[in-house]
This record gives sequence, C-alpha cells and structure tokens, in this order.
Amino acid sequence: MIKAQRGTKDILFDESYNWERIEKIASETFRKAGFSKIQTPIFEATELFNRGVGESSDIVNKEMYTFSVGGAKKNENSITLRPENTAGVVRAYIEHNLSRLSPPQKFWYFGPMFRYERPQAGRQRQFHQIGIEAFGVEDPSMDAEIIFLAINLLKSFNLSDFEVELNSLGCKTCKEEYKNSIKEAILPYLDKMCPDCKVRYQKNPLRILDCKQPSCQEILGLEEIKKVVLKDYICPHCKNHFDTLTNYLDELGINYKINKFLVRGLDYYNRTVFEIKSSHLGSQSAILGGGRYDSLVETLGGPKTPAIGFALGVERLYSLIEKVEVQKPDYYIVSNNQKEALKLALKLRESGKSAEFDYGNRKFSKQLEKASKTAKKAIILGEDEINQGFYSVKDLSSSEQIKVDNYNDLI
Ligand code: HAM
Repeated sequence: MIKAQRGTKDILFDESYNWERIEKIASETFRKAGFSKIQTPIFEATELFNRGVGESSDIVNKEMYTFSVGGAKKNENSITLRPENTAGVVRAYIEHNLSRLSPPQKFWYFGPMFRYERPQAGRQRQFHQIGIEAFGVEDPSMDAEIIFLAINLLKSFNLSDFEVELNSLGCKTCKEEYKNSIKEAILPYLDKMCPDCKVRYQKNPLRILDCKQPSCQEILGLEEIKKVVLKDYICPHCKNHFDTLTNYLDELGINYKINKFLVRGLDYYNRTVFEIKSSHLGSQSAILGGGRYDSLVETLGGPKTPAIGFALGVERLYSLIEKVEVQKPDYYIVSNNQKEALKLALKLRESGKSAEFDYGNRKFSKQLEKASKTAKKAIILGEDEINQGFYSVKDLSSSEQIKVDNYNDLI
C-alpha cells in the first residue's frame, strides 16, 4: 500500500468540515479589517526564498523542497515549494506594481507550506498557514492593528489561554551594533555551542538567542550574556516606535510579555517581532509568529516599502480549538424509483434544503438504516406515495412518521 509521505496528512470528514470553518472565520475577521485574499503559487523560483527568507535561516539552509526542472536547461530553472508565504506575497506585490495603489495594501492567505523538518507533534513537512501581510505603513498603529488581529482571530475560536511575546530587533544600524555586542559576549563560549550556532555566529548571530539546544541554553542563561541581551540597545527612533506600539497595546488592554530573546527564524525581520504561544502545544508552542520586514520589498527589487504581517499554523490552531460536528443533511430519500428520488433531491436542494437519495435500489430496510446514520429525516417515496402524490416523512431521531401532502411543507 502506498502511504502518505512522512510529515503529511490527509484531512477527512469532520476534520475537513472544521478546517472549512477555520477558513471562514479567518476570512470574516480579515475582511472586516479591510484585508483581501491573495492566492499565490505553491512553488516559486528558489532565488526568491534564498534572497527573501535569507541564506542564514534554517529554512533556506536545510528545509527547502527544491527541484531542478526544465530538461536541458535544468540548472537555469530551480524551483522551491514555498516554505512560507511572505516572500511570495512580496513577489506578487512587486510584480503587480501594487505600490502604485494608495497604501496600505492588505492581504490575507490560507494554504499549504512545505519544510523538510523532522516530523513531531505540531511539526509537519506539509503544514498550513493562515497569514496576513500589510504594505505601506511604518506607523506603529499598524503593528498594533496586526497584533490585535492575531489575538482577535484566536478569540474568535474561543481561545484565551495564550501568551503574546514581543520584541524589537531595531533597524539596520542598531541591529548591527547589537549583533557585534552579542558576538563579543558569546566568543569565549563559542567552542561549547552546538554546530548550528557556530555557523549562526558567522552568518546571523542573533539567531543564537533562540537556540533550544541544552548546551546553548546553558550559555545563554549566564548572567554576563543575559546582561548584554537585556540591554536596551535599540536607537531612539526604534525605541520610540516600540514604546508607541506598547502604549497602543496597553490602551487596547492587550497583555504581552517583552522577550528580548525573541529573534524569529527568518532573516527579513526588523523592529517589531512577536509570537503567540500556548502552553497546551508542547515543545512546538508557537501558534503564530510575525513581525515587520521593512526592507524586504526593496531587497526583492521593489520600491522602499515598510511592511508587517504574521502567519498562524493551522494544524496547531486545530489541535487547540473545540470541534463542531458536521450538520447532517435534512433529508435522505428512500425509494426504489431513482428517477423520482433524484428529481425530488434536486428540487429540495433548489429550495435550500440538503438532501441525498439512495442510488442502489436496495431494500427499504437497508435504505432506512443508511438514512438513520446519515440524515435528520427520511422521505419515503414508495409506489403509493408516487402514484397518489404524497410523501411519508420519518423523523430519524424520534422514529415518528407522518404523511405530508404538500411539497411546501417539506421546505
Ligand atoms: P514562522 O514562524 O516560520 O513564520 O511560521 C508561522 C507559524 O507556522 C508558526 O508559528 C507555526 O504555528 C507554523 N509552523 C511553522 N512551521 C511548521 C511546521 N513544520 N509544522 C506545523 N506548523 C508550522 C513565517 O512563516 C512567517 N512567514 C510569518 C510572517 C508573515 N512574518 C511576517 N509575515
């Protein structure tokens, strides 16, 4: 038997119904805030992620599904299944010249992402994200709006037990200064750090701060390292941006925790970064994560455009929410006259009812057995009913059966 690939999953029946509900609630939440849905391709040029997500990120280094396509021109055409969607949305923003439209331009998406990671609870190789991206506004009111929307979305699913973590990575200038201080502080301990952190030390030292390896955690817990990390290093401009944001959040009554170790795993972030975590998710505790990426549009060849967004892991959200049961269809038509049964089913659906019928010309007892598992009511359409023009309707929970003379009483 051929099975689904490791780290991938089929979504069926009630689960599928609940996924549809998740997308609907997200769509309503974002539409109310003026976001429109964007659908970008599932694969993009590999270069987009190399340049967009960044050469020093784990995603680009070891997690991408990259293929060479195009026969003889193989090397010229390397594509990658999207590991995330910010880069793709930015590519679309530039390609459609959306900067000509008045800012902000606000988008949301829902779809599969692909990362070649070691599968475990809450971590898959094909997983799904709901995300939003907003372009053209630098003002911290946009950061507050985005964080508020993330919280609002979780609340729409009746979730309240989560924690918002917030940090500012500063701008290009202050980030550089910070990186240097971190490098200086870490240097005496570099030998004892994990192999990944040794590479990070060269390529993107800030990423060392969220390494989960026990050996690195121990070093990061040292007082002298903590002192450097916790120092207020961001420039006055970035500090003002961050303080205004926290002011807004305070005004809105949003609880958050400033976590100076929060650096996020993708290279494009600057200034505001945030994650929302749940203690019910185990080691993969982030339900969602996001932040500002004010240089990405420019990096990918567009005009200078501030931007911010977040993405939520749908599988992780699904594991937290209360599930709803699939609504049973209103009617199951029990008949040995498939033509009349089909006609009645179609008519009922046109009238706004849900209806199924038995395709198999089976014994009524078998059809009724199926009906009682499937629908709320059975309409029995036997010879008498067809010839005399009435319907026998059986309530499948109470087993009560009534005679209905008029079609309008069915709808
Ligand atoms: P990210 O933190 O890499 O950010 O992913 C966002 C969310 O996707 C995570 O918090 C998690 O819930 C989910 N996720 C990530 N990897 C997996 C996995 N292997 N299995 C299951 N769920 C996973 C981004 O992707 C950024 N593009 C977010 C963003 C949008 N930043 C700005 N705009």
